[in-house]
Amino acid sequence: MINLENELFLPSIFLKYSGIGEATAVHLAELQPFLALTGRNEYNLAKVAKQCQEVGLPAERILLIKADLNIEEDIKRIMETTVKQFGRIDVLFPNAMIYAMTKAGLDNFTKSLAMELAKYKVRVNSVLPGLTKTAFQLRAGLTPYAYQKYLESQMEKQPLGRAVAPIDVAKAIKFMASDESSFITGELLYVDGGGHNKPV
Ligand SMILES: NC(=O)c1ccc[n+]([C@@H]2O[C@H](COP(=O)([O-])OP(=O)(O)OC[C@H]3O[C@@H](n4cnc5c(N)ncnc54)[C@H](OP(=O)(O)O)[C@@H]3O)[C@@H](O)[C@H]2O)c1
Repeated sequence: MINLENELFLPSIFLKYSGIGEATAVHLAELQPFLALTGRNEYNLAKVAKQCQEVGLPAERILLIKADLNIEEDIKRIMETTVKQFGRIDVLFPNAMIYAMTKAGLDNFTKSLAMELAKYKVRVNSVLPGLTKTAFQLRAGLTPYAYQKYLESQMEKQPLGRAVAPIDVAKAIKFMASDESSFITGELLYVDGGGHNKPV
């Protein structure tokens, strides 16, 4: 028999929480870009594509590539398919790759890559979210009930008094991806309601 005791929040959690990548795709879609979306799950990809269309991005500007960023050939295929379809890549947002790095590693990687690529006029920046309401922790195995409790326990530790919403992160990524940040490279932009400045 399935024990539902700890699963009571399940429907609302899955409806309420979307990922950072998903929120960013929909937020950027309003700018009418050519958008290549990748992920391992075709259903989720189609769902995000539909949301992008709902905010006005034509279907022919959306390319869906089922791929796993842990597989080197898949990364190569993503790049090749996108260039073949759209002619070039202006902005790369490797959202899921953060999995594989420590924060210190990511910070150093951002700065050194920015210095290395500056001669090609390529900018490299990182957006660093604080605790963000997504399905991330649920996918990692936390029960919805435990996640809800964890969120509540963390709220009071956030200077601005709430968890990060995916759209908060999406707005920062839009800034970094656009000409609005045209002379910024090697920077780490925190989107955490001030959390990283709070004394421990
Ligand atoms: N949520 C937070 O509190 C938080 C805080 C700081 C940093 N971050 C970082 O922000 C990033 C996004 O987190 P999130 O909260 O939005 O997570 P999420 O809701 O679990 O979304 C992760 C996304 O990445 C895709 N993905 C995961 N592994 C992949 C792989 N190997 N290849 C291709 N696609 C893959 C997933 O799609 P498929 O399942 O379809 O592949 C999903 O769309 C992560 O790197 C996370 O470490 C999150």
